[in-house]
Amino acid sequence: MSETSLNKPILRVLAGERLPKPPIWLMRQAGRYLPEYRAIRQQTESFLDLCFNPRLAAEITLQPIRRFSFDAAILFSDILVVPHALGQRVSFESGEGPRLDALAEPDDLRRLKREISHDTLAPVYETIALVKEQLPEQVALLGFCGAPWTVATYMIAGRGSADQSVARLFAYRHPNSFAELIEVLVRSSISYLARQFEAGVDAVQVFDSWAGVLPRDEFQKWCIEPMAKIAVGLRRQIPGAKIIGFPRGAGTELPRYLAEVPVDAVSLDWTVELGFARREVQKLRPVQGNLDPLALLAGGTALDRAVDSIMQAFSDGPFIFNLGHGVLPDTPVENVARLVERVRGRAAH
Ligand code: CP3
Repeated sequence: MSETSLNKPILRVLAGERLPKPPIWLMRQAGRYLPEYRAIRQQTESFLDLCFNPRLAAEITLQPIRRFSFDAAILFSDILVVPHALGQRVSFESGEGPRLDALAEPDDLRRLKREISHDTLAPVYETIALVKEQLPEQVALLGFCGAPWTVATYMIAGRGSADQSVARLFAYRHPNSFAELIEVLVRSSISYLARQFEAGVDAVQVFDSWAGVLPRDEFQKWCIEPMAKIAVGLRRQIPGAKIIGFPRGAGTELPRYLAEVPVDAVSLDWTVELGFARREVQKLRPVQGNLDPLALLAGGTALDRAVDSIMQAFSDGPFIFNLGHGVLPDTPVENVARLVERVRGRAAH
């Protein structure tokens, strides 16, 4: 391990070390709950333009670090820049979420490029370099992408939904075409994440936000296997690349996921029971998680109690404090400050 990575608590945990105080960062820590994010967002017509503006994206990445001194900064971007770089039209309607020109039939897959365009993604790599210059040395910089299944759900349906029935149906009706799309996304993800490492990220997280809607065999085929290919393929290009997997909703399948996917750590959603996670998951790999984002929004003693239970459950092993999903836009900023203080203990400040 290099000198610099020893200074970064997150990387020590990813290497399997237990720290007396867990490092902390939050999914969606840059975003609408922060007034300074909203101020920048207001000046920009399109969310994608913001993702592809290195100066502004770097600024937004650093905003939560300045406020809360988190142990990691996560690149400000979105998982849907990958379909965009494959030639699909992507836009974000304010208040309505993402819109893509849906891949409704197998033939529609022909509209996609076979390889992602790194020219399109060049501003992301530039953002990473800019953040790197300004980040305190003990703070890790995380890159990310969406896992193939999760990205495919948006590409096929053209929008988000609660159960991803459009993509699930497509996968049952057209398994070969669906497998082809997943393969394109596996290759794209490896190549995209490798470039992120080359630009300067310390570790990456792969978000499989919709892993939990699949039955066991489909979870194996569309989540576990592609994710294992990404981890192996990425390390072929970037030896020792540190990877956090986030199979949201995987529940009791987590031990099987970890048996087959060589990630360095696993991020747990808030529904994962703490006793089970401690006994059956943390013994296999460092864990990250898993505060309910609504407990953070609620604040007060409900927040304190939830934080204490998580700290108690995971403090004997390698552990990174995080939410079980992203910060919700209505979350009061004071609650985030309260959370950080509680996790670190007043003495640390
Ligand atoms: O974590 C961070 O702070 C880094 C930035 C980040 C964003 N999206 C910024 C964003 C990350 C890591 C993501 C990941 C992402 N994007 C996921 C996986 C994690 C998860 O939340 O499940 C998914 C599924 C997406 C797709 C996406 N992007 C949706 C469904 C939406 C609309 C819903 C929403 O929260 O608005 C987005 C938009 C988005 N991505 C915003 C931000 C800050 C809000 C856009 C705005 O400000 O108008």
